[in-house]
Amino acid sequence: MLLEVSTLAAGYLGQTVVQGVNLEVSPGEVVAIIGSNGAGKTTLMRAIAGLLRPMAGRVSLAGRDMTRWPAHRVAGAGVAYVPAERHLFPAMTVKTNLVLGAYPHRPQREALELVFEIFPALKPRLQQRAGTLSGGQQQMVAVGRALVAQPRLLMLDEPSTGLAPKLAKDAFEALGSLKGRGMTLLVAEQQVPLALSVADRGYVLENGRITLEGTPHELDRNPEVRRAYLGVA
Ligand SMILES: Nc1ncnc2c1ncn2[C@@H]1O[C@H](COP(=O)(O)OP(=O)(O)OP(=O)(O)O)[C@@H](O)[C@H]1O
Ligand SMILES: [Mg+2]
Repeated sequence: MLLEVSTLAAGYLGQTVVQGVNLEVSPGEVVAIIGSNGAGKTTLMRAIAGLLRPMAGRVSLAGRDMTRWPAHRVAGAGVAYVPAERHLFPAMTVKTNLVLGAYPHRPQREALELVFEIFPALKPRLQQRAGTLSGGQQQMVAVGRALVAQPRLLMLDEPSTGLAPKLAKDAFEALGSLKGRGMTLLVAEQQVPLALSVADRGYVLENGRITLEGTPHELDRNPEVRRAYLGVA
């Protein structure tokens, strides 16, 4: 198992938001965390990434306990996290943003080549300031910057945030290309059809707890999922 989360609890100021979360990601797998606004997806991802200290439970990467590691150490072990807000450096160029993904190291040529293969639209824009890119292009830079770190696990929080439907679909297609190249992904998403279009497995998070787990096929025909997330009566 690459990522193993067991009985994890996390929250803010002593207030528990997610609890009893058990979740696994195998190497090469794409796993979706599905849930509506406020379900706790971001809280869960931040706890895994070391940006929020878990209140209980365990997080391990390839068998190594990293539960209370600070974010920089989790990142150093190969876990990249792309927040929904992207957090680019808007005044810096696309190139600088990408190169900083490898910090404190220099980017590997293969890593940059992968970014341009997945996101060819970035190549002619390397000298453009990131803040002047369209939303879709900014999303590409955010994912590209994470890829430059050559992560073992890439975590994305709602990659569709702020994107028109067509661009959100493109973003998930790019994730499909990454999957085709063997990348391991954990993706939080509230647009369930998008999430299920690329995932091997999904977990449904409701009020901070995992209520269902299954393949896209299983989730897609689950009556609760259909009612709550797919708008099917
Ligand atoms: N910094 C914080 N301090 C206090 N409460 C917070 C904080 N961040 C989030 N929460 C609360 O935790 C709960 C879960 O929020 P979270 O952002 O994890 O949900 P989410 O599933 O990511 O939602 P969304 O789809 O809207 O991004 C919410 O009730 C939210 O108000
Ligand atoms: Mg969120």
